[in-house]
Amino acid sequence: MWEYTDKVRDLFLHPKNVGEVENPDAVGEVGSIVCGDALRLTLKIDKETGRIVDAKFQTFGCASAIASSSALTELLKGKTLDEAEKITNQDIAEFLGGLPKEKMHCSVMGQEALEAAIASYKGDQKPAETQERIICKCFDVSEEKIRRVAIENHLTTVEEISDFTKAGGGCGTCIPDIQAILKDIWALKDVPKPKEHKKLTNLQKIALIQDVLEREIRPRLQADGGDLELLDVEGSKVMIALRAMCVSCPMGGVTVQSIEQKLKELVSEDIMVEAR
Ligand code: FES
Repeated sequence: MWEYTDKVRDLFLHPKNVGEVENPDAVGEVGSIVCGDALRLTLKIDKETGRIVDAKFQTFGCASAIASSSALTELLKGKTLDEAEKITNQDIAEFLGGLPKEKMHCSVMGQEALEAAIASYKGDQKPAETQERIICKCFDVSEEKIRRVAIENHLTTVEEISDFTKAGGGCGTCIPDIQAILKDIWALKDVPKPKEHKKLTNLQKIALIQDVLEREIRPRLQADGGDLELLDVEGSKVMIALRAMCVSCPMGGVTVQSIEQKLKELVSEDIMVEAR
C-alpha cells in the first residue's frame, strides 16, 4: 500500500472542485485513459483583473491523481495568471504534505494541465515544425518533458524519471534513451541503471494481479456503482467479468482497456484482459 498523507486521503475521499466550470475561459487536457491517467482542467478568469475566479477538474486516475488535481484547483483560485504560471509540481506535492515518490507523476500531470490551460487562454500553439520527439512510446513521454522534469526536480536516475513521468516503466525499450538524456543533462560518467525487471513466477503473477485489482481497480469501479470479478488467469491472459453497473455501461470497452493498461503497467507488459 502507498503511504498517503492525511491531506491526500482527505482530498481523495472529499475532493474539492470536481466537475467543469460553466463556459470556461481556459481548458487544459493532458494524459489519456489508455495511458492510465487523464486530467481536464477548466478555469474561469476575470478579464479585468486577470485573476482565476473558479477552477474545476475531471480526472481518470488513482487516489493521488484526484488529490493532486483537487490541490491544484485550490492553489489556483484567486491567483493571477502570472502567479498561476509559477506553480510547479513541487508546489502541488507540498500542498498535499508530500506524495509517495512513485506517485509524483500525478503532480506533474497537474502542472501540465495548468500549462495547457494557460496556453489555451493565450491562444498559444506549438508550430508544427517543433513537434516533440517521443522517447517513451508506452506512456507517450517526450524528450522535452523528460528534460524539464529532470532539471526542475533534480532527478538523476531512470527510476526517478519513471516515478515522475512513467517513462521507462513499461516495456523498458526507452531506458537507454532516458539514460542518454540524463547523462547529457548532468554530464554524469555513469547514470545509475534501473533495477532489472524480475521475472515473476506464475503464482507471484496471479497474486500481483489480484492485488492490483483489489487495491487499484475495484475501489474505483465500486465508487461509481460498478465492480468486477477475476475469473481466471492463463499465462498472460486475465479473464474478468464486469459486475453491477459496469455490466450495462456503454463505456465497458474503455473500462476493460484501462484495466489492461493498469495491469501492464504494474504487473507485466504482456498482460491481455478479456471480459466475459
Ligand atoms: S517505450 Fe518507454 S517503457 Fe516502453
